[in-house]
Amino acid sequence: MRPILIAGNWKMHKTQAQAREFLREFGTALQSSSQDSVPLTRTVSERQVILCVPYTDLAVVVEQTQGSGIAVGAQNLHWEDQGAFTGEISGPMLVELGVRYVIVGHSERRQYFGESDETVNQRLAAAQRHGLIPILCVGESKHQRDQGLTESWILEQLDRGLAGIDLEHLVIAYEPIWAIGTGETCAAQEANRVIGLIRQHVGQAHLSILYGGSVKASNIDEIMAQPQIDGVLVGGASLEPKEFARIANYQ
Ligand code: G3H
Repeated sequence: MRPILIAGNWKMHKTQAQAREFLREFGTALQSSSQDSVPLTRTVSERQVILCVPYTDLAVVVEQTQGSGIAVGAQNLHWEDQGAFTGEISGPMLVELGVRYVIVGHSERRQYFGESDETVNQRLAAAQRHGLIPILCVGESKHQRDQGLTESWILEQLDRGLAGIDLEHLVIAYEPIWAIGTGETCAAQEANRVIGLIRQHVGQAHLSILYGGSVKASNIDEIMAQPQIDGVLVGGASLEPKEFARIANYQ
């Protein structure tokens, strides 16, 4: 049985004060949107809710979610443990804060900050070296999809990104770039097909593979009904506590 992961990626949103406000409302919303009004701890222990927040919010979110069952993730890490890398954050720094997950290779990092499969590979190794569970993001652009290159591109991202990586302690997120923040969700059956392909290629039957790209409360049921999809990585809709609680409590 593969674990179900409902991960929010706040990207560059929310100050500490806004994070506190979110958590107050999210705790209440999680309980009220759960069908049988179970306590927060039980609701989230059946499926792992993860909040991947900006570095500046990590300490606050770890502290405020203690005992709730919600796990905290960062959105990136550097591959070295320390050194002259201005502006970067390392694995030991995240571990010290109580972080458990870290997103690696998000398409926005690849697109705006020049991250390559090689640096993604180094970051994955660093995360695992420190006991963090990396969430590796892969996905094709609209152009690549139109050219019929979806499969070959994703398999190449996997081969390069995962070279030498421990496949036991890893999560993969399939995020078609054209579906991120656009409102244009990949059809659930198509996401299921690509995720099945990823699973087959990686060859790990029990690996959790998530879908990301315009996930909302209105489409979560259809997405999670797909047999290959083990959870979601949610951007915009994770910023709004009621909406994200409805996603976390999907039926
Ligand atoms: O990491 C999350 C993805 O980039 C999806 O973002 O839900 O706003 O489309 P989105």
